[in-house]
Amino acid sequence: MKKLLSVLLAMTMALSFAACSGSAANSSAAAPANSTAGKAAGGDSGDMTVVGFSQVGAESDWRTANTASMKETFTEANGYKLIFDDAQQKQENQITAIRNFIQQEVDYIVLAPVTETGWDTVLKEAKDAGIPVIIVDRMIDVSDDSLFTCWVGSDFRKEGDTAVKWMQDNLKDKKELHIVHLQGTIGSSAQIGRTEGLEAGVKANPGWKLVAQQTGEFTQAKGQEVMESLLKQNDKIDVVYCENDNMAFGAIDAIEAAGKKAGKGGDITVISFDSTKAGLEATLKGKINYNVECNPLHGPRVESIIKELKAGKTPQKLAYVDETAFDANTITQAVIDARAY
Ligand code: AHR
Repeated sequence: MKKLLSVLLAMTMALSFAACSGSAANSSAAAPANSTAGKAAGGDSGDMTVVGFSQVGAESDWRTANTASMKETFTEANGYKLIFDDAQQKQENQITAIRNFIQQEVDYIVLAPVTETGWDTVLKEAKDAGIPVIIVDRMIDVSDDSLFTCWVGSDFRKEGDTAVKWMQDNLKDKKELHIVHLQGTIGSSAQIGRTEGLEAGVKANPGWKLVAQQTGEFTQAKGQEVMESLLKQNDKIDVVYCENDNMAFGAIDAIEAAGKKAGKGGDITVISFDSTKAGLEATLKGKINYNVECNPLHGPRVESIIKELKAGKTPQKLAYVDETAFDANTITQAVIDARAY
């Protein structure tokens, strides 16, 4: 009997040891779904949130300020590992960057798209991988809105309408207005909205003549080059409508090199967008007559979206940033001193 009891005890101990080993093996296989440990990108990211940011490029002062805002927000000290990619103004580079982010299993993808169209396939890949995509600055045009989580940026059409309203109010004494138009990157929301605003203004004001419309690709060098050739081709230019500050700087250089005066009390009225610090300095000097703001400080806005998502909330699908505009007749040094970008 004693022998039988000790055999039974040994069998029970062996069985319970096997059961414990089994449960230990199972628990180590079940890592929490939202854990970043062991991710391809997060090998050394520990508990940090991994954000892949595909940036358009570095074409303008606005863009530089936007990149700085993202980098200052998504720091390791704030709990993030930021994977930054500069696409050099090329959509194919952005598509490659997004595919790399998917492969690296980032927690969030942030996309500042160069143009509106052409995103369906790659964003479907991100969706299938279960990675939320936040669009920032310019908008995208996709067949299915569930391909992105949400968007934050500017109302570019409203910016164009604001500029047109100023032209109507301030240039109404001129029977005819000969306008040349320096456009941004063709197909980008910033170009589309600001162009739509001007074209609607031209339709509504019979005296307004759109004598030329050409892209300066949002850069100072191209803005200058295009304006130089437009000045050679057109004797009569009353207004240059520049879709950003950097193209306005280039246009002003070209106007002055042609022996004309740009801006307030000059030969050619200069309209610009962005209102960067340098743009506002040119406005205070009177070289830009009217500057419509476009706010690039999106880092904290994107971070608050990520915090909402982490908390299981649903962020607003489309969030427009509040913006204003500055007139050379009323701007003060204090406005420029207070400018963060
Ligand atoms: O999308 C925002 C625009 O892009 C800014 O107006 C311009 O400066 C930038 O390059």
